Amino acid sequence: MNRNLFWLVLISMYFPSLQAQTKRLSNETPQQKEQRMKWWTNDRFGMFIHWGLYALPARHEWVKNRERLSNEQYRKYFDEFDPDHFEPERWAKEAKAAGMKYAVLTSKHHEGFCLFDSKYTDYKAPDTKAHRDLVKEFVNAFRKEGLKVGFYYSLIDWHHPDFTIDKNHPLRPADTKDSAAYARLNKGKDMAKYRTYLFNQVRELLTNYGKIDILWLDFSYPGPFGKGHDDWHSKELLAMVRKLQPEIIVNNRLDLNDYADGYDFVTPEQVSSEALNAFKGKTFETCQTFSGSWGYYRDETSWKTHRQLLDLLISSVSNGGNLILNVGPTARGEFDYRATSALDSLAYWMHANNKAIYNCTYPPRDFRIPEGDRMSYNAATKRAYLFLYRYPENGELVLRGYSHKIKYAQFLNDESELLYKESDAQPDNLIVTLPKLKPPYEIPVVELILK
Ligand code: GLC
Repeated sequence: MNRNLFWLVLISMYFPSLQAQTKRLSNETPQQKEQRMKWWTNDRFGMFIHWGLYALPARHEWVKNRERLSNEQYRKYFDEFDPDHFEPERWAKEAKAAGMKYAVLTSKHHEGFCLFDSKYTDYKAPDTKAHRDLVKEFVNAFRKEGLKVGFYYSLIDWHHPDFTIDKNHPLRPADTKDSAAYARLNKGKDMAKYRTYLFNQVRELLTNYGKIDILWLDFSYPGPFGKGHDDWHSKELLAMVRKLQPEIIVNNRLDLNDYADGYDFVTPEQVSSEALNAFKGKTFETCQTFSGSWGYYRDETSWKTHRQLLDLLISSVSNGGNLILNVGPTARGEFDYRATSALDSLAYWMHANNKAIYNCTYPPRDFRIPEGDRMSYNAATKRAYLFLYRYPENGELVLRGYSHKIKYAQFLNDESELLYKESDAQPDNLIVTLPKLKPPYEIPVVELILK
């Protein structure tokens, strides 16, 4: 081995992330990727929709796994599925009003039920009392409202007879480390056949519905009794996806993390707003629920407050990432009152403050942010947005190190001027006078117009 090669091997053993950056599947340049991702980076805020048969039991989309239900035991939900209130135009209007710019629907979740018309199965919406392709209606409705559309497709399938039983399967053995038990349960199952099904369905989704903007493939859990890229043939799958839809944006759950282009964005799931600080500078989209589960869960009481939802949105953008917020429609096909009221309150805030969200990212390093607040930044319009998490009681907002930076300040919601002066003690600091009366927004925004 020559000297350089020796060092390269040694370094990449100790720094696998370096290795990751050098391994590639395609020859797309960073500039081309930036261009492809541009709308997504600008839009920042999307809607996730988890809808499937699990809306009927209404106690988590993993109910089949949690209660270890067989296909026969789960069958009643297929038989009863009858979404008489399914009007995706209403979903699209609510999403749009809340300021969301794209939506991703579960075309199939882990339970295996398909909301779309697939040639390869009869476990699908057109064969239920719905009698139609619900994905097609979703796509048309959201496109009509000017939103971008995406599909979630579960790599996992707890209904397909050839999908081998693993540690996450509803029919897993009592002892999930017992390899002999798996061997017994998987006798006659052929993952290769399932894989063909998976490829066929992804091809259908990316062929029959026009331009699809995002694909969310979910998920890998490599290791003993799990599944990863070898099970899905992830490289080939991704190549097919990119061939069918060259502009599409793909998430990171194919277990191709060793490749710089094995995914387009990372997906921190249900993390706290503080934890998002660690993702600053990465291309990320945090996915979050209104309450704990993704599918409709009737008895859940842990709904996030308006402030918590705003905090997640603001924390995503001010760290340079996106938020995709989930709604789990009911079995009848509508958003329940709690989801609607959460969306309405976001709509109210976004109407007044969305300039601090779209096309924004984190501010340059030398922009100091008052303790406890957050800030976003729009490089194109040269504006910085200060999110007032704590409204100063004495009516004085101190901005340290800003006197050479800004030329005007106002509230974003009504563009009313905010007067400021240099601090006598420290001329580089500005003292902004705020009205006693806090603007009627949970987290008001100060817009700083930069020199
Ligand atoms: C997880 C869950 C799933 C949900 C998804 C959303 O992987 O399995 O139920 O669809 O995350 O990010």
